[in-house]
Amino acid sequence: ESPPNPSVRRVSDWDADRLAGLAADHGMPLYVQDLDRVRENCERLRDAFPDAEVRYAVKAHTGRAVLEAVREAGLDAECASAGEVDRALAAGFGGSRLHYTAVNPPARDLDYVVGVAEAEPDITVTVGAVDTLDRLAERGYDGRVCVRVNPGVGAGHHEKVRTGGAAKFGIPFDRAAEAARDAADRFDVVGIHAHAGSGIDPDQLDSHRELVARMGELTRELASPDDADADPLDLEYVDVGGGFGVPYEEDAPALDLPAVAEATREAVAPLPAGVDLAIEPGRYVVADAGVLLTRVNTVKPTPDERVVGVDAGMTDLLRPAMYDAYHPIRNLGGGRERDGSDPPAPDEREATPVTVAGPICETGDVLCRNRALADPVRGDLLAVGIAGAYGYEMANQYNSRPRPAEVALDDGTAAVVRRREALGDLTAVEREATPDRTDRT
Ligand code: LLP
Repeated sequence: ESPPNPSVRRVSDWDADRLAGLAADHGMPLYVQDLDRVRENCERLRDAFPDAEVRYAVKAHTGRAVLEAVREAGLDAECASAGEVDRALAAGFGGSRLHYTAVNPPARDLDYVVGVAEAEPDITVTVGAVDTLDRLAERGYDGRVCVRVNPGVGAGHHEKVRTGGAAKFGIPFDRAAEAARDAADRFDVVGIHAHAGSGIDPDQLDSHRELVARMGELTRELASPDDADADPLDLEYVDVGGGFGVPYEEDAPALDLPAVAEATREAVAPLPAGVDLAIEPGRYVVADAGVLLTRVNTVKPTPDERVVGVDAGMTDLLRPAMYDAYHPIRNLGGGRERDGSDPPAPDEREATPVTVAGPICETGDVLCRNRALADPVRGDLLAVGIAGAYGYEMANQYNSRPRPAEVALDDGTAAVVRRREALGDLTAVEREATPDRTDRT
C-alpha cells in the first residue's frame, strides 16, 4: 500500500479493477478525476506554504466538482477569462477569493469582470499592460489591481509555456515600479505578480528562485522607494506565480515541495511588514489526480514499428501533439488475441516498443512513439496517466469528434461530472447561412 499523501500518484498506483469497471460502465474514451487526490494536493501545498496565499489556477481543470473541492480545501481561484470567473463564481468563490488575470483581455471579458466587481468589490484584477489599466478606468473600475511584471526570466517544460521573459506577459521589469505607482492614482494597487512558466522541474529551480528574488526586490522598492519623491505603496502580497512541475516519466524525481517553499521564502525575503507571499499553481493541484482511459481497437505490425490504434487522440489529450509531452501509459489488459484466446495478464506479457496512435487524421496524433508497453492486443484498456491538468481543458472537436465524458471519484464514489458529447453537440451552434432564402429546390 502506498503511503498517505505521497508526493506523486503514478499511473501504476491506480486500482486497475476500478478503472476497468469505470470503462465498462461509461464507455470510451473516459477521463477519471479523483477528488480525494485533488484535496491531498491542496493540503500538501498548504502545508508547504503555510503563510502564503494559495490560489488555484483554474485553467488547469475547470470542472465544477474540482473547483468545489479546491474551494473547500481553502484555496482561492485565479482565473484567466470571463468564462473562468463565471465558473469560479458558480462554484462558490466570491469576494477576495476571486482573482482575474487579464492577458490582452477582450472587451467582453473586461465588461463582464467590471460588472462582477459591482457585486464582488473584493475581486482583484491582475494587469500586465498600461493599456489594460486605461481600459479598466474607461469602464469606471477603480477597485483592486495587481500589477503583472515581466521578470525577464522564465522556466517550464516547453518553450511554448515559458511565460516569464516572454514580452506578451507583464510590464517590463525596469518600468514596473513606475507603472505600479502611476496605477495607484487610479486604483487600489494591492499586489505585484510574475509567473515563470508551467512545469518547472527540479533542474529549473534556479531560474524560479531568480524570479522570486527579483520580485522581492521590487516589493521592497515599492514599499520604501529609493526616490524620496515617490509615494510608497501599501501592498498586500507579492504573487510569484505557479508552475510547480509534476513528474510525468515513471522514474523522474518529484519536486521536493517543502524545500521549494523554503527556497522561495528565502529568495523573496525580507518582505516588508504586512506583505504576504502568494502562489498560483494549477498543474500541481490536479495533474496526478486524473487519468484518461482509452481502448485499443487496432494492432498493426509494420516493418518499422508496431502501431497500436486507440480511440482517444489529440482531440482528447492535446499535450503530446502540442508539446511532445510525455504521458505514462499503462496497459490494463482485458483484450483478446485474434484467435479469440485470452492473452496473459499484462504484467506477464513481454514489453514491446509500440507507437500508440489516435483516430485523428494527422500524423502528429500519437500518444507515444516506440515506447515499451506490455504488448497490447485488441480490446485492451490503456490508462494514460497524469492527465488531470490541461487534459480535458484542451480537448476539442476537431475531425468532428465529440469530447469525452469525465467521471469524478469522491470518497470512492463515481459520478459522471461531464457527460460525453453526442453528435448533435457538434452542430448545436450552427445556423443556416441564409435562413430566409426561398429559391431552394
Ligand atoms: N498563473 C498564470 C498567470 C499562468 O499563466 C499559469 C499557467 C498558471 C498560473 C498555472 O501554471 P501551472 O501551475 O499549472 O503550471 N497547457 C500547458 C500549460 C499552460 C500553462 C499556462 N499558464 C500544458 O499543458 O503544459
